Formats: sequence, C-alpha cells, structure tokens
Amino acid sequence: MNRENVIKTDLSEEIFMNSVELAELQHLCNAAIKQLTIKFEILNDEFRVKYERSPIHHIESRLKSQASILKKLKKKGVELSAESAMKNVNDIAGVRVVCCYIDDVYDVADMLLRQSDIRLICEQDYIKHPNYNGYRSLHLDIQIPIYLSEKTEYVNVEVQLRTVAMDFWASLEHDLRYKSDKNIPTGLQDRMVACANEIADIDKRMQEIYKSIKEI
Ligand code: GTP
Ligand code: MG
Repeated sequence: MNRENVIKTDLSEEIFMNSVELAELQHLCNAAIKQLTIKFEILNDEFRVKYERSPIHHIESRLKSQASILKKLKKKGVELSAESAMKNVNDIAGVRVVCCYIDDVYDVADMLLRQSDIRLICEQDYIKHPNYNGYRSLHLDIQIPIYLSEKTEYVNVEVQLRTVAMDFWASLEHDLRYKSDKNIPTGLQDRMVACANEIADIDKRMQEIYKSIKEI
C-alpha cells in the first residue's frame, strides 16, 4: 500500500494496513515482547536463587499504535505499508526494564546481549551521555527471533534500561511535556536538568551504600 492508499475513517484516523496485516504485525510484535520479557524474568529469577536479590525492579512493555507508526513512517519518508513498518520502525515493540542500581542496568544489558539469539542493531547510552534535558537511560535496539509455523522472523524491539531513579525523572518529564502544549521556558528547562543531575547523584550514592552494606 502506498501514500495514495491511505484512507481516512470517520474518526479521521488514517489507516494504512488492512485488518489482516495489522493483526499479523501485532501478533509478531506481541510475541517479541513476550519472549523478551520471559528472558528478563528468567535472569531475575536466577539472581534471586543464586544471590537472594533482584536486579530488575519491574518490567513494562507497550505496542505502538497504528497512528504512531504512520506518523513515524511519514517522518522518515518511507513507504506506508506493514512490511515497511516492520523494517523501518524499530520501536513498534517496546520493553522497559527498570533496575535497582546503575550497575544492574549494565549487567542486565550484558546478560541479554550475551544470548546467542539476540542481535544488537544499535546501542544509545544516555547514562554516560545524557540528553540535552538530562534524560538518562540505556537504549538497545535489538532483533529477536520469533519461530512461526513455517518460518523464523527477526522482530525489532527497542529496549530501554534505566534505574528506578532515572524512571522517576523520565516519567514526570514525559508527563510535564505532554500536559503542557506550551514551549517550556529556558529557566524551567534548566531546573529540569538540575533535578536530573541531582537524581543521578542520588543514584550513585545509593549504589555506594548498597555496595558498602554488601561488604559487611
Ligand atoms: P527512534 O528512531 O524513535 O528510536 O529515534 P531516536 O533513536 O532518536 O530516539 P531514542 O531512541 O533516543 O528515544 C526513543 C524513546 O526514548 C522515546 O520514545 C522515549 O520513550 C524515550 N526518551 C528519549 N528521550 C527522552 C526524554 O527526553 N524524556 C523522556 N521522558 N523520554 C525520552
Ligand atoms: Mg532509538
């Protein structure tokens, strides 16, 4: 389906996939989310059994809506089709792994990437190099195989790994940005960065306390 085939519904939501294409895409991406979530849960369970602690605090996931997929395809100027979406949109399936400490973020990421079926496409380390606004997280764009009845499909997933503290800031920042349709003045932006930096400092101190307690 190309640009000309995009139709508007009564709700003025643009539809560019037919119901079968949409169901297949959602099935594949849901399968990828399930597989990846199980992988993280197994790693966390292993830590509980071996070390009596959980590096992962909680896991969230989401599937991108058809409207958001369409927006991204248009932004990239690529073909508007289900096939193009699977190829060009890396975050239709998204998994967020919220860890306890900074070291846990890197340890969990390494444990995932050591698994032989996981293909790393791109890594963006916003912990070592925070965003202009102070956003911190480790992003892994990966592919995971989904074994179907007649073929294997490698499905893209965007994995975001962050600490509870980073998640606290990112969740509120997201909320503030989306609640406000105005441009945030520079003064407030600077205060957001200052909060992010203070939270990062607390994250480091909490990790040091954890290490000290472990050594007792
Ligand atoms: P994509 O092709 O969309 O991945 O573009 P990109 O690689 O430039 O985006 P990136 O991977 O850096 O960010 C994608 C996601 O990270 C967003 O959808 C958010 O969930 C999260 N994210 C990135 N920057 C911020 C930020 O400043 N604040 C918050 N709250 N979340 C962010
Ligand atoms: Mg990205």
